[in-house]
Amino acid sequence: MKKLFGFSINLAAFVAITSMLVGCEPSDFREGVVMAGGKYVPAHTLNKGKQIYQEYCMACHGVNGDGNGVAAKGLEVPPRNFTLGIIKFGDVISGELPHDEAIYKTLEHGLNGTAMLPWDLKKDQMEAVWQYIKTFAPDTWIGKDKQLGKQFDSSTFKDPYTVARRKQAIETGRKVYHVEAACQACHMGYVSLGEFDQMSRELTGDGVEELDETFFQLKTQVSEHGYGVRPPDFTYHKLRSVRGNNVEDIYLRLLAGVGGTTMPAWSETIEEDYKIWALAYYVQSLMEYRKSPKKRAEFFSNLKK
Ligand code: HEC
Ligand code: HEC
Repeated sequence: MKKLFGFSINLAAFVAITSMLVGCEPSDFREGVVMAGGKYVPAHTLNKGKQIYQEYCMACHGVNGDGNGVAAKGLEVPPRNFTLGIIKFGDVISGELPHDEAIYKTLEHGLNGTAMLPWDLKKDQMEAVWQYIKTFAPDTWIGKDKQLGKQFDSSTFKDPYTVARRKQAIETGRKVYHVEAACQACHMGYVSLGEFDQMSRELTGDGVEELDETFFQLKTQVSEHGYGVRPPDFTYHKLRSVRGNNVEDIYLRLLAGVGGTTMPAWSETIEEDYKIWALAYYVQSLMEYRKSPKKRAEFFSNLKK
């Protein structure tokens, strides 16, 4: 009886040790963590997330989450380096910590024009993998003292124009774009010298005699991601966080900006909400040239006459 008892203890120890060696790797999570915003994530969720990450994401984002995976070489837009803890397309003022829903939207739709494709993951899989990714940047994400930013919630958006007044929105947006916000400081201009002069006089009282030589060029920007980022030409490039040509998605991006880049959160600078909507409609109207290279070429040649 005694001997048998001794044996059963040894057996239990044996099972425990082999399952440690075979079943789990030494770096598996044994305890849950509290993430920014006070969310408790149990160890089994993190372990499940790690598995999903290794299967689907590691090839680009790297074993350690630093963006240097085997498939990352030669990509025009590098995979995100998660160890920096910076997200580009959040649902908060850029620089603040985004809510999980913003990331799930990115996982569901991908980031257009980059190697980050849409993923057909279930909600609990998205949840697990994103919580695991947070552990690559513990200083940013782990700890109950850390706050998420104030969320821009699209269910509360109130479009003052809607399709009925689209033309007026575009006309206003065009002026805000070129004169008030000077988006062409990084992006490019989409009006002729004559039009620019006229709208400047109307809005500021001062005219313009000549255009900057870079007026029709994109200006590559430094970023906190470790590489230079190119602002899009709306008549040509796909917008990463915009589904189709969805005006609300453009509006959200203008409110929030792009984290770790020079693209500002315009809700911090432009007080009147209708102007941000107007800008969104204007950007959307420029995106229509993507459909026809011929119309796009004509549009630019007319501007430069
Ligand atoms: C084929 C390469 C590739 C794979 C595989 C991949 N990604 Fe990405 N991912 C990218 C690239 C490239 C970017 C950066 C796009 C940009 O900067 O606009 C990115 C960006 C991201 C971002 C940052 C979004 C933001 O707003 O900053 C997250 C989160 C992300 N990926 C999660 C994942 C997850 C989760 C998986 C696995 C399910 C995955 N990725 C698989 C290439 C990849
Ligand atoms: C100081 C530089 C700067 C200014 C000024 C600026 N942007 Fe940007 N913008 C950028 C950069 C850089 C990106 C690309 C970020 C990236 O994808 O990595 C960008 C991206 C965007 C995007 C694409 C988002 C996506 O999902 O891909 C939109 C839309 C946009 N800007 C609109 C505007 C508008 C409208 C204005 C003026 C109201 C403006 N920007 C002014 C730098 C700027």
